[in-house]
Amino acid sequence: MPERLTIRRPDDWHVHLRDGAMLAGVAGFTARQFARAIVMPNLAPPVTTAGAARAYRDRILAALPADSGFTPLMTCYLTDNADPGEIARGFAAGDFTACKLYPAHATTNSAHGVSDIRALTDVLETMQRIDMPLLIHGEVTDRDVDMFDREAVFVDRILAPLVADFPALRIVLEHITTAEAAQFVEQAGERVAATITPQHLMLNRNALFDGGLRPHAYCLPVVKRERHRLAIRRAAVSGSASFFLGTDSAPHDVARKEADCGCAGIFNAPHALESYATVFDEEGALDRLEAFASENGPNFYRLPLNTGTIILERAETIVPPAIDIGGSDVVPFHAGRTLGWRLVE
Ligand code: NCD
Ligand code: ZN
Repeated sequence: MPERLTIRRPDDWHVHLRDGAMLAGVAGFTARQFARAIVMPNLAPPVTTAGAARAYRDRILAALPADSGFTPLMTCYLTDNADPGEIARGFAAGDFTACKLYPAHATTNSAHGVSDIRALTDVLETMQRIDMPLLIHGEVTDRDVDMFDREAVFVDRILAPLVADFPALRIVLEHITTAEAAQFVEQAGERVAATITPQHLMLNRNALFDGGLRPHAYCLPVVKRERHRLAIRRAAVSGSASFFLGTDSAPHDVARKEADCGCAGIFNAPHALESYATVFDEEGALDRLEAFASENGPNFYRLPLNTGTIILERAETIVPPAIDIGGSDVVPFHAGRTLGWRLVE
C-alpha cells in the first residue's frame, strides 16, 4: 500500500471551463492539477471559428496566473453549417486541436449541434485527411429512446457505421457510461478511444435517487446501472491505451442545478485526481493510474508527454459543501464528504 504516489503530470482530455466570472473561478482548479486540457466549446454562442477559439484561449489564460504553465487545447463546435476550410485552417494554425460533435439538443448548449451526421461528410473527410480527432458526445436524442439507453443506441446506430465509413478518422467517444461503449472502444483498435469521468466510475443511477432527488448527481450522459459502472471501471484500470482521463467537469451555479428543470453537469474539477486515485486504489490498480491519467491521452492526440510530476498521498481530503465562484455557490462532486487521497501542493 504506497502512502505516496508520484506520477507524470496528467492532462484533462475533456473539461468545461465556461466563461466570464465562472471561468475566472474554476480555471485554477483544473490548472492546479493538469498541464493541459481539452476545452469544450459549448459556450453561448458556441466556439465555431478559429478566431473565437483564439479569443477564448486568451480569456482562459487571462483567468490564470502568468506562471500557471497550463495549456488550453481548443476545440471546434460542429454545427450543420460547419466549414471544412475553416476547420482545416484552424487545425493547421494550432487554434483547434479537435472538433466536438454534439447531437442537436443532447446536452447543455447543444441547440446548435448536428442534426444529421450524414450532412457532415465533407467535414469528416477533411478531418480524416488532416488527421484531426473527432470528439463525440455519444447519445441519440430521439424522444422515443429511453434516457438510459441513449448511449448504447448511439454506439449501434451512429458510431459503428461512422467508424466503418471513415476508416482512418480518429475518434474519442467522450465520457463513456455503458458496458456497450467500453466494449465497442476496446475492440475498435487504436484509432478509437474514450474518456472516462470520475462520476461514472464512482456513481450508479441509485445516486440520482438516494433518499430523494439528487440534482448534483445529474450529468449527461446520465449515470447508469451498477453493471455499467463496473464495466467502466474495468476499462479504466485495464491498462488498455484506448481509455484515458477526461473529467467532464461541468460547473453550474446551485440555483441552476436545484431547479424545476435543473442543468446537467457535475463540478468535479476541485478533487478530480483524488477521485481517480480513490478508484484506482479500490481496484488495486494504482500502478496503472499514470498511464490512464498522463500517457494514453497524449499518445492518442500525438502530443508529447508532460515532463513534470505530481504527488498524491494517502491522506484525508475534506470536500467543502459548496464553493463560491464569482459570488454564486457551486456544489462540487463529493460535497461535504471526505476522500482518502490528497494532491500534494
Ligand atoms: C455538460 C455541460 O454542462 O456543459 N454537462 C454534462 O452533464 N456533462 C455538457 C456535456 O458534456 O454533456
Ligand atoms: Zn462535457
